[in-house]
Amino acid sequence: MMWKELVGLESIRKLLTYPYDVKDISDFRVERLRSLGVRGVYNYGSVAVNGFKVLGKGHASIVLLVSHESLGDVVVKVRRLDSKRKSLTNEGYIMSLVKYDVVPKVYYYDDDFIMMEYLDGTLLGDYIRLHSTEEVIKVFLKVFEASHKLDLSSVDHLELSKPHKHVMVLRDGNVKFLDFESARISETPCNLCRVYSAYIHLIKRKDLTHVRGLLKTYKLGRKDLFKDIVELILKV
Ligand SMILES: Nc1ncnc2c1ncn2[C@@H]1O[C@H](COP(=O)(O)OP(=O)(O)O)[C@@H](O)[C@H]1O
Ligand SMILES: [Mg+2]
Repeated sequence: MMWKELVGLESIRKLLTYPYDVKDISDFRVERLRSLGVRGVYNYGSVAVNGFKVLGKGHASIVLLVSHESLGDVVVKVRRLDSKRKSLTNEGYIMSLVKYDVVPKVYYYDDDFIMMEYLDGTLLGDYIRLHSTEEVIKVFLKVFEASHKLDLSSVDHLELSKPHKHVMVLRDGNVKFLDFESARISETPCNLCRVYSAYIHLIKRKDLTHVRGLLKTYKLGRKDLFKDIVELILKV
């Protein structure tokens, strides 16, 4: 990986209590991250917060690339102090339930942090802007497969009809999902349904009643229909 500036946890304490500056909470968080094995934080990423580069800034969190004493370079998602969410536990727990390699590996989670695998890639929204329709369709095939694997894990992401910021396209062409803040455990998940909606909208294809009918049956339990559904989608 390219050279990145590594700084001590002390020098980013304000980011740990973003958007406020609360000394006892930042003391607590610095201590916790240290005891979890975080050696320092990289000034690295496409978003700047208080002049420091980070991987991401959402409504609920600040996402940092950190150096860990045994895991190497990993991501820490830090709960913002103004987040509606009281805890990141549910998000970390649901991610850890996914049985396939379609989410970042989760190493640790609690109310304030999720420590997970770093995904080196491009968010789907950026990928779409930079690639041809043909290439975008190829990536969507991967997203269909990955959403099927989420469905088989009984995890419903619930936000995949807007996949632009929730899918990372990796360098090897595979995809993984991010941001399980709204995700639920479900007996009838249909991530595939939502990804299909996003796809026809983006590619400007007609919504076929036949596909919708099959998706309904798929949602209710016939997950084995996946291949037939994708074949139908691609035929149009
Ligand atoms: N594991 C990861 N690897 C690389 N980048 C990540 C990772 N997790 C999050 N990010 C980056 O941080 C951004 C915000 O993360 P997200 O989980 O959506 O936070 P929020 O819940 O606050 O919206 C993502 O859009 C992505 O760019
Ligand atoms: Mg988000």
